[in-house]
Amino acid sequence: MFSVAQLTAKDNVMTENNMTDNQPTLQVITASTRNGRSGPLVADWFLNYARKNAQFIIEPIDLAAISLPMYNEPRHPRLKQYEYDHTKAWSAIVNRADAFVIVTPEYNYFAPPALINALDYLSHEWAYKPVGFVSYGGISGGTRSVQSVKPLLTTLQMVPLPVAVSIPFFNQYIKADSGTFDPGEIQEKAAEAMLNELLRWAKALKPLRA
Ligand SMILES: Cc1cc2nc3c(=O)[nH]c(=O)nc-3n(C[C@H](O)[C@H](O)[C@H](O)COP(=O)(O)O)c2cc1C
Repeated sequence: MFSVAQLTAKDNVMTENNMTDNQPTLQVITASTRNGRSGPLVADWFLNYARKNAQFIIEPIDLAAISLPMYNEPRHPRLKQYEYDHTKAWSAIVNRADAFVIVTPEYNYFAPPALINALDYLSHEWAYKPVGFVSYGGISGGTRSVQSVKPLLTTLQMVPLPVAVSIPFFNQYIKADSGTFDPGEIQEKAAEAMLNELLRWAKALKPLRA
């Protein structure tokens, strides 16, 4: 995971790589930020799988490390006239992505507040980019969280995919000895299907961002 400062410095390098024909940049966003969260365990499992899959340049984004304050820009993000350094840094990070996977829990049948806050900060940077989900929770596997955020994503002109990884009762896949998370082959197959779709959409949407 990177701090905002590291990610901003990295931006100069990463923009050069942005969306080569074969390897678009996939940002994997960890949406939970609370102390003691399980999000990074789930994200690490998916990140390892996505790196093996090797269709994308993979960039982990942890909203806890990004640490955006509650939305405080004076002007509408459509104008891109950002007042604050935290917004400028966040804009540069999101701008270089060609696709996203949001790793999200479900809080009260809804998406976590840090995710909604991070989405609201920007506009053009999100547009015409596909989004997949890795969700986790109790019996719902976090699916209500995913459904709750889709109207926001489509308002931002993003393309949320129906193919997703949904992990019910995720705690059972945390190994007692190592503390690592492994939900098994069925979820790997779902991850593969989602990555394949993300690649198709990332390529198809790129001309709309030209
Ligand atoms: C405020 C809060 C609300 C929650 N609401 C739900 C819920 O609606 N559905 C669900 O399946 N789990 C719910 N949970 C349990 C979470 O699935 C579980 O705490 C999970 O670890 C949260 O992800 P995180 O650890 O990455 O924050 C809730 C947890 C919290 C802290």
